[in-house]
Amino acid sequence: MCGIVGYVGTQTVKDILLKGLEKLEYRGYDSAGLAVIDENVNVIKEKGRIATLREKAEATDADGTIGIGHTRWATHGVPNITNAHPHQGNEKRFTLVHNGVIENYEELKTEFLSDVTLTSDTDTEIIVQMIEKFADAGATPEEAFRQVLSKLEGSYAIAMLDANDSDTIYVGKNKSPLLVGLADDANVVASDSMAMLHVTKTFVELMDEETVIVSREGVQIKKLDGTTVDREPFTAELDESDTEKGTYAHYMLKEIDEQPFVIRNIIQQYQDEQNEIKLSKDIRKAVGNADRIYIIAAGTSYHAGLVGKELLEKVAGIPVEVHIASEFLYNQPLLSEKPLFIFISQSGETADSRGVLVNVKKAGLPSVTITNVPGSTLDREADFALYTYAGPEIAVASTKAYTAQMAVLSILAMDAAIAKGIDTDFDAIHELSIVANAIEVLTDAKDEMEQIARDYLLETRNAFFIGRGFDYHVVQEGALKLKEISYIQAEGFAGGELKHGTIALIEDGTPVIALATQQSVNLNIRGNLQEVVSRGANPCVVSMDGLNRKGDNVVIPKVHDYLTPLASVIPLQLISYYAALHRGCDVDKPRNLAKSVTVE
Ligand code: F6R
Repeated sequence: MCGIVGYVGTQTVKDILLKGLEKLEYRGYDSAGLAVIDENVNVIKEKGRIATLREKAEATDADGTIGIGHTRWATHGVPNITNAHPHQGNEKRFTLVHNGVIENYEELKTEFLSDVTLTSDTDTEIIVQMIEKFADAGATPEEAFRQVLSKLEGSYAIAMLDANDSDTIYVGKNKSPLLVGLADDANVVASDSMAMLHVTKTFVELMDEETVIVSREGVQIKKLDGTTVDREPFTAELDESDTEKGTYAHYMLKEIDEQPFVIRNIIQQYQDEQNEIKLSKDIRKAVGNADRIYIIAAGTSYHAGLVGKELLEKVAGIPVEVHIASEFLYNQPLLSEKPLFIFISQSGETADSRGVLVNVKKAGLPSVTITNVPGSTLDREADFALYTYAGPEIAVASTKAYTAQMAVLSILAMDAAIAKGIDTDFDAIHELSIVANAIEVLTDAKDEMEQIARDYLLETRNAFFIGRGFDYHVVQEGALKLKEISYIQAEGFAGGELKHGTIALIEDGTPVIALATQQSVNLNIRGNLQEVVSRGANPCVVSMDGLNRKGDNVVIPKVHDYLTPLASVIPLQLISYYAALHRGCDVDKPRNLAKSVTVE
């Protein structure tokens, strides 16, 4: 969480940094700040969104051509102006922004800063105070920077300015993402490439425990021990327009609408000229060698993993376990003899998943990452990667990444079945093309979804979702979508499970949204619905063509049983969107959340 930017070049820096922070706002948005060097070091900070910072910054004279910026998701210290970044040492020589968590900050404070009065409650301030102290003791800024970074335990992406040097940004990284960008008249720093596409498309990746001296003339990468590193730049395959919301009121609605294109794009990316599935031989071999697959993920990606398990088991006959990354990290189950780990992560940066990957690598076990962000940490560090090709997902609530993850998992499952010589009538590519059309029909039915949100969700304080089989996994995702953006307490249950306790919460008018897309349990789920209706629930049914009954609220077009999650989630995404919209919530940036969860 948190996003950082930096620029040193020939243009006035304030607006360049603000634009960058606006692109990074998805990483956290409880406070933000800038530092710009002209004759002085100008530090401008605000609680709240970048828009508030922009107002303050625009009213401030600071027209230097070097600066750094930060958007924050609070870890240590409440969100307020004092705790907002940038932070400075007491002499105000050094000014620093940080994304990450310093785990040994208490120890460092005791060892090095017992005589220093700290002004904030953050772990970040100790970094800059220590650098100032080391420089006072005779180290050059570069030496002090590397000496202090060598003592940090935890995660960091850092950019630092020196008041005595208006040509240099000191940059360092460990575990938190960071890129350096190269342009003709400037060099930049950013948590991701989207933040600096208005300056350059050429970036250099940084590895853990590397530092960079970024100046107008160039960039110099060094390890913490001072040895120089050479690395070729890469060109970001994004355009600035990929990250704009165009005529849409919200990124979330745009991203929901993009899903048919995303599925078709995945079909194209994973199909060769003979219309055969195109997966690397190495991945095929890794899956073929595994006696059990362990899927590791968090949040929505975990929900995609649950569907992935069904697909891999049903189509390819491979046993699969799905684990929440943060649980697996500290409570590892017994592993099979030949495990394969699959990490699912939109951002490729989730700290909990990365923590598991580090252990998996230490144990010498094979790993595949399914991610939307090529070049992300999980992409780089796993043995193999499969991309979801969904394009940038900016709304905090994940939509298109989820359907894309499931689409890729279905292709992986089918590829594994072919490799194992399993005779399956499931043709993932063909079925996905039918799904893309079904999604289009559903995204065109916005008025109906909006009406459902109005009828069921505007006044309620809670809502329940029920489903069985594949539908059970989707209702968990539907409930997460609703609660995270509308703040309605929502839970997804296995249809048969509600009566084992939770049914006590059903009152007159409680909305219960049931998914009924699985033939084998259609009667059962409808029976479960009757149980709650008899206790006063207000039922809403999303069913599938062929299984529908009179009075069902939404009937999704017929798709293959195994791929119903990709279609049935669309009404749930749209209903959540309209519920949040009409309840006056900030759809794209729900409270307390950040898109990329880079702390454990
Ligand atoms: C919910 C949502 C989160 C993420 C989770 C994992 O809408 O987006 O639950 O799915 O934080 O993030 P990634 O997939 O980036 O690892």
